[in-house]
Amino acid sequence: MLNKTQIAVVASGNGTNLQALIDAQKSGVIKSGVISLVVSNNPRAYALTRAHDAGIKTAVISGDRFKSREAFEGELCRILSMHGIELIVLAGFMRILSAEFTSKYPRSIINVHPSLIPSFCGKGFYGLRVHEEALKYGVKVTGATVHYVNEIPDGGEIILQKSVCVKSTDTPETLQRRVMEQAEWKLLPKACEMISKEKKKKRGKNHECL
Ligand code: GAR
Repeated sequence: MLNKTQIAVVASGNGTNLQALIDAQKSGVIKSGVISLVVSNNPRAYALTRAHDAGIKTAVISGDRFKSREAFEGELCRILSMHGIELIVLAGFMRILSAEFTSKYPRSIINVHPSLIPSFCGKGFYGLRVHEEALKYGVKVTGATVHYVNEIPDGGEIILQKSVCVKSTDTPETLQRRVMEQAEWKLLPKACEMISKEKKKKRGKNHECL
């Protein structure tokens, strides 16, 4: 049996998407990969507690210590390679990664975004803001997208998308919750398994050639 794809989840806040990944690993939805590390830029992120509770290693790269983007990304790179990470999952990570960083991990970083890209995405569109803007615009359908991460914020190739209905009574909070429940928490584990499986297969092929 070949080793599982080593996954790192990077999160800044509550970590409900991380929880969905942990649950998916427990239930066998994610079987080709293993979450071996959770990284946060926020020492108070509840995502870290979720990781501890699940027995997953954690690392904090706080903005206080690593002030510049260069310093932050240098440390992130070091930690990821130390743990042999092959797939980086941005799950509620509220920073934008530089082109220098993303070019080091082609088709190996994915992100979940709470809208149907190309709507309500890019710089400045994150978290609740996305749902506020969707409601302001008056869209009747929104959703979530899982995509590869490249140098363009929310601009990488789309992997999976799922639509979610908007209700006339929605607040940003109720809409956010429905998008999470009906789309994000399903799409992200599915994408993780798809890519982990792909990477595992590739490793197998490379192995055969040796
Ligand atoms: C999620 O809705 C995620 O899609 C979004 O932030 C929330 C994090 O929730 N991410 C972005 O907006 C990134 N552009 P969580 O911490 O409970 O997973």
